Amino acid sequence: MTYPMKLASRLDPIKPSITLAVTAKAAKLKADGIDVVSFGAGEPDFDTPAHIKDAARAALDKPGVGKYTDVAGVLPLRKAIAAELSAVHKTTIAPDQVLVSTGAKHSLFNLFMALLDPGDEVLIPAPFWVSYPDMVMLAGGRPVILETRAEDDFAVTPQQVAAACSPRTRAIVLNNPSNPTGAVYTRAQIEGLAKVVVEKDLLVISDDIYRQLVYGDAEYVSIAAVSPELAKRTVLVDGVSKTYAMTGWRIGYTAGPLALIKAMTKIQGQSTSNPTHISQIATLAALTGSQDCVGEMRKAFDERRIEMVKLLRAIPGVTCREPKGAFYAFPDVSAYVGKHSPEGAILDDDVQLCDWLVEVGKVAVVPGSGFGAPGFVRLSYACSMANIQDGVGRIARALASLV
Ligand SMILES: Cc1ncc(COP(=O)(O)O)c(C=O)c1O
Repeated sequence: MTYPMKLASRLDPIKPSITLAVTAKAAKLKADGIDVVSFGAGEPDFDTPAHIKDAARAALDKPGVGKYTDVAGVLPLRKAIAAELSAVHKTTIAPDQVLVSTGAKHSLFNLFMALLDPGDEVLIPAPFWVSYPDMVMLAGGRPVILETRAEDDFAVTPQQVAAACSPRTRAIVLNNPSNPTGAVYTRAQIEGLAKVVVEKDLLVISDDIYRQLVYGDAEYVSIAAVSPELAKRTVLVDGVSKTYAMTGWRIGYTAGPLALIKAMTKIQGQSTSNPTHISQIATLAALTGSQDCVGEMRKAFDERRIEMVKLLRAIPGVTCREPKGAFYAFPDVSAYVGKHSPEGAILDDDVQLCDWLVEVGKVAVVPGSGFGAPGFVRLSYACSMANIQDGVGRIARALASLV
């Protein structure tokens, strides 16, 4: 007999992460010996650069390594983060305005927990990274979704932001470059948003985890750098997972108003305490060592991006905006929603289409619904060129078999 477990009602609206679910499904099929190409994971296929691993290895032999550290992270690391973010965002950030956490996901969780009272609203432009709405809800807040259009390169407009504000609106999430769309805001767009943010007295949660992964003529423009007024009201969320291929080391960080960082540190102090010491040492090496590895990985991502977009656009009925940052393509596959598979199933929505693609087509992509964009799918191009060619070929053949 199983115990009749009653779980907390705060979990009722919470969904499991769809990207993790797709990745796990593809991994299981692979473990069963099935040849599946996975475009699911939001993770570089590169190994963590050798000099970063070497720094961690060398540190292991030093006395004191492996003990608790300051809850907020060791001071040399917070200093290095403060220096880098001050330079990037053209402002002055002190080390005590920095909190190091167990991945940027943890940073964001701490942030929403520290910021939101029940019913407080957070504006989230869609398509959005899967975890924002659920994290806001876990913290008792209310996500307010702002729909954007592929034709506008998925950019939210100042008018939309202004119209969505209520007396309960606390903050807007700006994920630039965007997961899942790869969109990068232009300077003019950032300046337009900066204006409305001040008018409406909002906090900006600037999730910059992909800021170093921009391609072609796109540039990352910091909203915090627009003016001191913006710097004051922006919380920067950043980390090493994507830029340095360090997803499993689990280090992310937040820099922002001192009162907020202190509140987040209090939460971290009562939950996880410091992030792993050895990972903090590796992160220090990543930030202060040679940056050549970043350029090399960016170049490889760019080549793969071009190839993937070319192949996707060659599929009849599929349209794909040019992603200018991060490492995702986000094509519109709505022309195939509602079609019949050769086995006779109706693929009623993008979730069913993706389920069928992995089971029959042996290629894993993430349904756009998880990102608030039904009819789209997300493909990560942080994988080999051979994978891209084989996998997009599988998608093309599978879709061609639908009637
Ligand atoms: C937009 C965005 N923010 C934050 C994160 C969290 O990254 P991590 O917790 O690995 O630092 C991710 C990871 O997928 C992401 O795509």
